Amino acid sequence: MLRAEDNELLTRTGPLTGMGQLFRRFWLPVLLSEELPQPDCPPVRLQVMGEKLLAFRDTSNRVGLIEPHCAHRGANLFWGRNEQNGIRCAFHGWKYDFQGRCLEMPTVPKNEAYEKLRGEARLKSYPTQEAGGYVWAYMGPAEHMPPLPEFEFMKLPRANTFVSKKLQQCNWAQACEGALDTAHFSFLHMSVGEDDDDDRAMKIMNQSEAAASGDKNRVRWMKNDGMPRFSITEHEAGLLMGAARTADNDDLYWRLSQFMMPSHALAPSTFPGENYHGQTFVPIDDELCWIYTYTWNPERPLTNMERERFSKGHTVHANVDKNYVPIRNRENDYLIDRDEQKHVSFTGITGVSEQDACVQDSQGFIADRTREMLGPTDLGIVRFRRMILEQTKALLNKGQEPPAAGKPESYMIRAGGTVAHSSKPLAEVMTLRFGNPIGRAQPTPAQH
Ligand code: FES
Ligand SMILES: [Fe+2]
Repeated sequence: MLRAEDNELLTRTGPLTGMGQLFRRFWLPVLLSEELPQPDCPPVRLQVMGEKLLAFRDTSNRVGLIEPHCAHRGANLFWGRNEQNGIRCAFHGWKYDFQGRCLEMPTVPKNEAYEKLRGEARLKSYPTQEAGGYVWAYMGPAEHMPPLPEFEFMKLPRANTFVSKKLQQCNWAQACEGALDTAHFSFLHMSVGEDDDDDRAMKIMNQSEAAASGDKNRVRWMKNDGMPRFSITEHEAGLLMGAARTADNDDLYWRLSQFMMPSHALAPSTFPGENYHGQTFVPIDDELCWIYTYTWNPERPLTNMERERFSKGHTVHANVDKNYVPIRNRENDYLIDRDEQKHVSFTGITGVSEQDACVQDSQGFIADRTREMLGPTDLGIVRFRRMILEQTKALLNKGQEPPAAGKPESYMIRAGGTVAHSSKPLAEVMTLRFGNPIGRAQPTPAQH
């Protein structure tokens, strides 16, 4: 549980809040590149951590991220013309470039005051970069701007990756905690009944990578052991979280996830050769967030069939409409099928992503953490909160910058699953699975 003031600190991300300042020390994805498909295409309205913004791709393929209201009389530049390396206000034709600089003021006489006025008409803007299929933005102080984090999926050919986004109708922190709470798989994502060979049960289970791989052992181990034992290691980017379940003989089934500052989580399911998955939680405001979701395979391009499945909602990817809103959502009770819940799946809701969204949303728009009863399987969440709150307080009270922001190479890590003898501690299990005690990704042929 958290004290009320810590819950506030954890969940509020506006520009004047502590967590808002911490988040603004990091690059964050703010759009899919495909939302701005070509130079001079229509601009896009967006909101990030409570700030309303406008994004546009200019003639030279640069992405501008600027405050949306024209300096003249405040018309919204969303209605403007995106033309010749700038966006021109629809009201009286003032024009701005991708850094918010005013280029032209056609209603102002070109006398000696013109240039001064033009300088003052500059709009707030944030730097952007494109990588891995996302537009990333840095919204913090210029003097602290770090390099872009080096996620493995951003270094691979696009053929090896699939990226998406989905709306989540709750605060960013409980969505992020849902990804770090790997104990829930034994319940939330399970089939019910004794017979996993039942066609309908397998259909439900196939939405998860473990079952899609055809490895029924993993499903059985998760089903039989709902109380995984957690081992946690702090590293430069964040936290490695190992959850060990009883497997066969003297073995443990390990699900190894990663948290990276400030709001990235890598999924724990992947066995060697399978696809890797990660998610980044970006607050829209304090009651909504975007989840940017990425899948990658370091060894081969993804197949068309895999892309097709992900785009319709599979594992961490949701089935979304053209606005990236999940088809099964808060408003329609996630299209729960109570008969299916009785006989087939634990939730009666189709889709791993949608099952996650349902329970996380159901904690409230902002979960009340003062009334929780945490136990040993919540250790990952406890450590996540401790790390991010400590770093927020250090930034606020001592001016200490979050260390991970300045270490982009520390984001080149993997998460996944493995089976190991019960005598082996986490670091050894990681070395066996990834060749490295914290899961640092080794260069692969595809990267050369
Ligand atoms: S309000 Fe934009 S040019 Fe007048
Ligand atoms: Fe889940």
